[in-house]
Amino acid sequence: MKILILNGSPHIHGATSDMVDAFIEGAKEAGHSVVNINVAHKNIKGCMGCEYCREKGDGVCIQKDDMQSIYPEILVADMIVFASPIYYFTLSAQLQAVIHRTYSIDIPKNVKKTALIMSSGSAYVYGPAIAQYYQSIVEYWGVENAGIFTANSDQNFSQQKREELYNFAKMV
Ligand SMILES: Cc1cc2nc3c(=O)[nH]c(=O)nc-3n(C[C@H](O)[C@H](O)[C@H](O)COP(=O)(O)O)c2cc1C
Repeated sequence: MKILILNGSPHIHGATSDMVDAFIEGAKEAGHSVVNINVAHKNIKGCMGCEYCREKGDGVCIQKDDMQSIYPEILVADMIVFASPIYYFTLSAQLQAVIHRTYSIDIPKNVKKTALIMSSGSAYVYGPAIAQYYQSIVEYWGVENAGIFTANSDQNFSQQKREELYNFAKMV
């Protein structure tokens, strides 16, 4: 399976990336090909809502930024893993921008399943992010939710979470 990871954490060695790294290890061992993109270190603007993509652009976004290299990865992926720290009870703005910019391609036809990985300071803060993930991705795209993983406070950077993500990747 071709797995694309979209990591919205600005911390390359942060808590979200720690879980992502464990997932990658398991996924590669299971024989999957993995593309890991840290979208927080890309130049990705918010959607302008100009409707060019849907009215004249034939699914092509008028904005020319780093999304141009991410669209092809989204279109060939069998599975997409969304990873993000929780910022104000939801996904980071950097990951939100990527999700909003999929408006131009609408539903990526090849994607069959998705997963969500989140890190936070506190527990019980994931409701809005999970609601968005279910409504905007799982239900709208019509894909299988393969799993939702969270780590808060002391769970961040823990061996237990690394094992959870590693084991999950082995069975996706
Ligand atoms: C701008 C900002 C907003 C945050 N909002 C929340 C929040 O609403 N709830 C929470 O539990 N933690 C919040 N946090 C803490 C982060 O989610 C937490 O530190 C997380 O582990 C960071 O992951 P990272 O190391 O991958 O960046 C916030 C942090 C920042 C910088």
